[in-house]
Amino acid sequence: MIPQYYEFSCQVKIVSGLKALQNLPYEMDLLGAHRALIVTDQGVAGAGLIKLVESVFTGSNCEIGAIFDQTPPDSSSKVVNQVAKLFSNERCDCFVAVGGGSSIDTAKCANMVVTEGTDDLLKFQGAERLKKPMKPFIAIPTTAGTGSEVTMVAVIYDDVNHLKLAFTSIRLYPNVAILDPKMTLTMPPKITAATAMDALTHAVEGYYCLQKNPVSDAFAIGGIKLILENVEQCIKNGQDENARLALANGALLAGISFANSMVGIVHSIAHACGGVARVPHGLANSILLPWGMENNLEKAGAVIAELAPYLGASTKGSSLDQAKACIQAVRDLQKRLKDLSGLPTTLSEAGVKKEQFEAIAKAAVNDGSATYNPEDVTIEVVMGILNKAF
Ligand SMILES: NC(=O)c1ccc[n+]([C@@H]2O[C@H](COP(=O)([O-])OP(=O)(O)OC[C@H]3O[C@@H](n4cnc5c(N)ncnc54)[C@H](O)[C@@H]3O)[C@@H](O)[C@H]2O)c1
Ligand SMILES: [Fe+2]
Repeated sequence: MIPQYYEFSCQVKIVSGLKALQNLPYEMDLLGAHRALIVTDQGVAGAGLIKLVESVFTGSNCEIGAIFDQTPPDSSSKVVNQVAKLFSNERCDCFVAVGGGSSIDTAKCANMVVTEGTDDLLKFQGAERLKKPMKPFIAIPTTAGTGSEVTMVAVIYDDVNHLKLAFTSIRLYPNVAILDPKMTLTMPPKITAATAMDALTHAVEGYYCLQKNPVSDAFAIGGIKLILENVEQCIKNGQDENARLALANGALLAGISFANSMVGIVHSIAHACGGVARVPHGLANSILLPWGMENNLEKAGAVIAELAPYLGASTKGSSLDQAKACIQAVRDLQKRLKDLSGLPTTLSEAGVKKEQFEAIAKAAVNDGSATYNPEDVTIEVVMGILNKAF
């Protein structure tokens, strides 16, 4: 059913291809920027990917002003302020984030701090608090992935309250997303599996959450197709450039979908597991996805059933039968990914302790994503899921 009213937006130029990285200086120049701050992390730099980025500046009219390669898995506002300071001290004029969601979101938040001229990032938490035009921003994702390269969302860790904080604003869209398989070839199998499951969760939750609309649906279905067709091949042969590029495109489509339809209970519990128990985002989503789908069977079963052909599930029987088959298809995928990469399928394997359940449940019901879930997200519901997923 078409909603009576909806909005959809994605304001990002997408540059995708086997040699797309070469376009980086050209894209900077188009944005009127010539001195980049590269924001990345040790894993990405250690895999040699920053060297690849440096090499494309040779002979161009653009340069790298500084490189920040100390992004932690969950950046706090302290790290963000360090990045912002480096940007100003080194007289950079644009951000180039090279990494997974952690690096991209750190750079997005540093851009907020630089633009708004404050080191109090937390006052921009929530929706549409940014009023000034931001510095030019190019995202080069190295996971496939969060979709942060095409979303208006940034997620940061509050290390005082042990929560993941979300910032959303139309100003947080990167100007350009560059997808080049060279940047994901080095991703280890377990990270490939976990981050692809984050992307699949974006598409599946994006398909049934409350702000869904015909445009976000099209992106969700396109994302599911590319993710499922390519994720296992990317794990079996990490060097397969075509599969890597296709998976990166799948994650991008899923990102565009969820940034409009929003995500629900799976992400609200995953954010809480990240905040309280430090479970990596993709892993938490991977474990929780079938349980979150099950939670929504009553209100959104018929919508979930529409995904059966794309998830490789049976299209026979009632819509409830098909929705249940979709859940089983996700469980079967979890098992195959575990066999291929060792990706855990339970919260206990992911290091969560039962004593943490209460704190996780409290954080999950207060997480922004909970608002968009078709079923109400209550403490009892979350505790039920945590026990089942343990
Ligand atoms: N902004 C959004 O729209 C959005 C959406 C979903 C998740 N997130 C956030 O993104 C973060 C997670 O991002 P992520 O899952 O991409 O992981 P990540 O950025 O934390 O990276 C995970 C690990 O993989 C390594 N790595 C990344 N790419 C590599 C490569 N090509 N080769 C070798 N190693 C590589 C990194 O060094 C790191 O150790 C979380 O904080 C999550 O909350 C943001
Ligand atoms: Fe996510």
